[in-house]
Amino acid sequence: MLIFSRKIYVYQVVILSMIFLLSSCNSEVTITEKKGEVDDPIEAKIDSIVSKMSLEEKIGQTAQRGKSSRVKELPKDLKDAVRKGQIGSFLNIMNKEDAKELQRIAVEESPSKIPLIFARDVIHGFKTIFPVPLGQAASFNPTLVQEGSRIAAIEASTYGIRWTFAPMLDISRDPRWGRIAESAGEDPYLTSEMAKAYINGFQGEDLSSPTSMAACAKHFIGYGAAEGGRDYNTANINDNLLHNVYLKPFKSAVDAGSSTFMTSFNDLNGIPASANSYVLKDILREQWGFDGFVVSDWNSIKEMVNHGFAKDQKEAAEKAINAMLDMEMTSTAYQDHLKELIQEGKFSEKELDVIVKNILRIKFRLGLFDNPYFDPNDTVLYAKNHLESAQKAAEESTVLLKNSNQVLPINSKQKIAIIGPLADAPHEQLGTWTFDGEKEHTITPLNAFENDNQYTIAYTNGLSYSRDRSTKNFQKAVSIAKSSDVILFFAGEEAILSGEAHSRAKINLPGEQEALIDELHKTGKPIVLILMAGRPITLENVKDKVDAILMAWHPGTMGGPALKNMITGVVSPSGKLPVTWPKEVGQIPIHYNHKNTGRPVIPEEFVQMDSIPIGAWQSSLGNTSHYLDAGFLPEYPFGYGLSYSLFTYSDISISNNTPKIGDTITVKVTVTNEGNSTAKETVQLYFRDMVGSITRPVKELLRFQKITLGAGESKEVSFTFVTDDLAFYGPDKTWITEPGDFKLWIAKNASDESNVLEFTIE
Ligand code: BGC
Repeated sequence: MLIFSRKIYVYQVVILSMIFLLSSCNSEVTITEKKGEVDDPIEAKIDSIVSKMSLEEKIGQTAQRGKSSRVKELPKDLKDAVRKGQIGSFLNIMNKEDAKELQRIAVEESPSKIPLIFARDVIHGFKTIFPVPLGQAASFNPTLVQEGSRIAAIEASTYGIRWTFAPMLDISRDPRWGRIAESAGEDPYLTSEMAKAYINGFQGEDLSSPTSMAACAKHFIGYGAAEGGRDYNTANINDNLLHNVYLKPFKSAVDAGSSTFMTSFNDLNGIPASANSYVLKDILREQWGFDGFVVSDWNSIKEMVNHGFAKDQKEAAEKAINAMLDMEMTSTAYQDHLKELIQEGKFSEKELDVIVKNILRIKFRLGLFDNPYFDPNDTVLYAKNHLESAQKAAEESTVLLKNSNQVLPINSKQKIAIIGPLADAPHEQLGTWTFDGEKEHTITPLNAFENDNQYTIAYTNGLSYSRDRSTKNFQKAVSIAKSSDVILFFAGEEAILSGEAHSRAKINLPGEQEALIDELHKTGKPIVLILMAGRPITLENVKDKVDAILMAWHPGTMGGPALKNMITGVVSPSGKLPVTWPKEVGQIPIHYNHKNTGRPVIPEEFVQMDSIPIGAWQSSLGNTSHYLDAGFLPEYPFGYGLSYSLFTYSDISISNNTPKIGDTITVKVTVTNEGNSTAKETVQLYFRDMVGSITRPVKELLRFQKITLGAGESKEVSFTFVTDDLAFYGPDKTWITEPGDFKLWIAKNASDESNVLEFTIE
């Protein structure tokens, strides 16, 4: 439990309304100051500090600066700026001595002696790297995710980093978008559960502990809805979709006590997120009562000029500050223009005070005023329990997509050919956004097999990196394949092919990887395709040529041992897809929680393009919503993932078929592990609101539970929810649960319809 749990807060709302009667600006500006607990001693201290600060110092608190890693010495002008109180935060200061010196100047020499806050993108681990967040979401195990982010905070805080720019909570329905790797996928409920886990882990039980980091829910908002999956692009999201899908994880971040938020680069329905008062003021502050601070994304204030939303940086600053964006990352529009804007009456110093207080509140909660320095205790980096946790996370994130003829797990008597550009690529398996992970500490699958003398292996990469177009090593690969019993082909994408600004229009295996699979297939040996990538990969050209497929995402430092355990059956795969996996790029966006059409798919009536007679008369061919070539099904549905065990579900029941609004409903199922080894299963509960005052998705994830069952063991799983959990943001802009019929599915994935229950809210 966070010590500043939002529940115990009574918000004191101070409405400051000002009307600026200026020729250039006649708008009414209303701001709401949220404060922590009434009589909170922190608030009194903040008020007292702010009352004595100069305008320059107040503006200074809104500035976040970085230092280029190419510059060795700490520039004198940065030190001077800190000395004058002109900087509130730094990002990416990775020299511990520099960080200490800057902090010393801030707390000893600056006018108000306000500590700095040091930030960094600690996204999926600091030194010990965990799977990319999309992979961690596939674990469907929030406890493990929380453990991973706790470890990240423990390691990063040894560098004085007390603020991480994570978690990224952008709903991502487009695998072309490179940053899908950083997300928890397409589902608002799963992403919300992951949000809580990350925030609780980063922030720990006590935010003021020196090993806690303030979390930053980003990117607010709509970044994942970038047109065509092209990074930074426009997001057009109608109000219902915004509230029912995109905002939900961010609300959960506020409820979990996220200290900070970051705006996104995109424009949302025409208004760039960094100046979007509707989301920043009306929703985040007014409706949700957020009392931390909001930082812009890197240069995103200044970029509003490129958006064509501000004629120059001054206007950009005016628009962002009036939306109450508290801190500016790297660009200097606030620093250069706020004073002038205040003098011109376009913003008031009183409003600026609110912003400064938001920032100081978090610095206080972090304990920085009492304990501004850090303990550079390096012994925790790559600690044994950190590595064990990273391995567990990699194991639970890996999704078994195919396993024909039980080719997996393999046994130690088989001669193994290890091939592929990702078999021994320590840097690549760390994935995107891993500034601090080191390949020297990474264990690759090849290392893991080599370190275990039970196995007879032969290795060649065949291709030296994922985009490699040279076939010169194919022959060697084929030759070792021929003299083996099974081929482990490690394929995928290098880390740099996903992440920021790394969208792809084709998402199949790059380079000549498909061609190499063709050659290996000709040997007639069973092939296990192990994928490492930051996104789903279209497999049309290879899926029938391989016998088994494991999706390992970019699994991090301990990916090698984790995959070896999986491949050899020490651990049974238990990951489930957090995104719908398309067959073809042309199916995108494809997500399970879509709306129905007036002409839903009738599978029996699907007419594949090649079976249409030549010269066919114009006809609707069955009138359903599908593609003539790619059909209507994804490659794999959301929530999908196989195990080495077989799980059966029985005795499903519902406590109440005719609940009233406000009632609690319990659904039960008995799950049995029919296999002969211990394995984990994620039981998923989906619902459909059959008729709504706005159309509702065909399915929505309501709950999930991951359980471990021994061979032959059965367990009863029960899910409890209240009718409010079924609510949606309706046409009158309120949250509502409407009486009527509902369906529930207790399922193994979003397409599994074998266990259905129904109820009617009266
Ligand atoms: C990214 C953010 C990140 C920031 C700081 C930006 O380019 O969009 O997610 O936190 O850089 O590195």
